[in-house]
Amino acid sequence: MVGGRRTESFPMQHAKPSGEIVFPELTEDVVGRIAATADARVREVMELLILHLHAFVREASLTNEEWKNAVAFLTRTGQMCSDNRQEFILLSDILGVSMLVDAVNNSAGTGLTDSTVLGPFYAGPQRELTHGDTILLREEDGPPLIVEGTVTSQNGEPIGDALVEVWQTAPNQLYDVQDDAQPDGHLRASFRTDERGKFSFKSILPVSYPIPDDGPAGQLLQMMGRHPFRPAHVHFMISARGYRMLVTHLFLSGDAYLDSDAVFGVKPSLIVTPEERDGLHRIVYHFGLESLDEA
Ligand SMILES: [Fe+2]
Repeated sequence: MVGGRRTESFPMQHAKPSGEIVFPELTEDVVGRIAATADARVREVMELLILHLHAFVREASLTNEEWKNAVAFLTRTGQMCSDNRQEFILLSDILGVSMLVDAVNNSAGTGLTDSTVLGPFYAGPQRELTHGDTILLREEDGPPLIVEGTVTSQNGEPIGDALVEVWQTAPNQLYDVQDDAQPDGHLRASFRTDERGKFSFKSILPVSYPIPDDGPAGQLLQMMGRHPFRPAHVHFMISARGYRMLVTHLFLSGDAYLDSDAVFGVKPSLIVTPEERDGLHRIVYHFGLESLDEA
């Protein structure tokens, strides 16, 4: 819950070491000019944004050259965007902003499954399959996986007819939307839970993969000495009437990137160890949704 904060006076802690605050009246002037903003929330958010941006420029003593570089960087970021590529989401992800937005908007607690980032590869509603179906549209050379899930309220009551949307990478580290060679909708599908809140599907083990790093977000990662990899995971988006939508992943234990996910999406409760029997892997997981009545 973000609302309710109002900055009564300007934060002047961002002074130079000498204690001097550069041009404080400018900040007061800019904030003063938005006083007539009709929408209270727009005014609140813009005021905070201006205060923090000004504080950042003062604290970093941003040079003209750096300001120009930043403008050019953001321009390239926009130019990189297309129907299949959202560079701003990548930028938000690698700076931890997406996870922070997720954290301030989702509660965690007993009986509730932790949420994590949506990511840029959700491709909208997919074909609805029945329990036990495969989400593959072509053969893949990957270890077979069965996922068995149960969806309940935080009190453990089964939620029937919940929509469970899943998506994951192919063994070549790409989602179908990144790879023209994959059939559209490969390794993604929707399911409905039964009256016991259950769903299941066949797939293959997901693999760790680099986020697209051939654009500005990738250049920034490299400048910061960071790798672009995400640990292997399956995405889930679960919606049911009367409950807050759950957007999450399940990660595979033992992955080399669990501690350094490029987008900071890993939470310990979301790491699973598939059971293996005769080469078949099985994940059993319980998803707890937050009732909107109790929110
Ligand atoms: Fe992903």
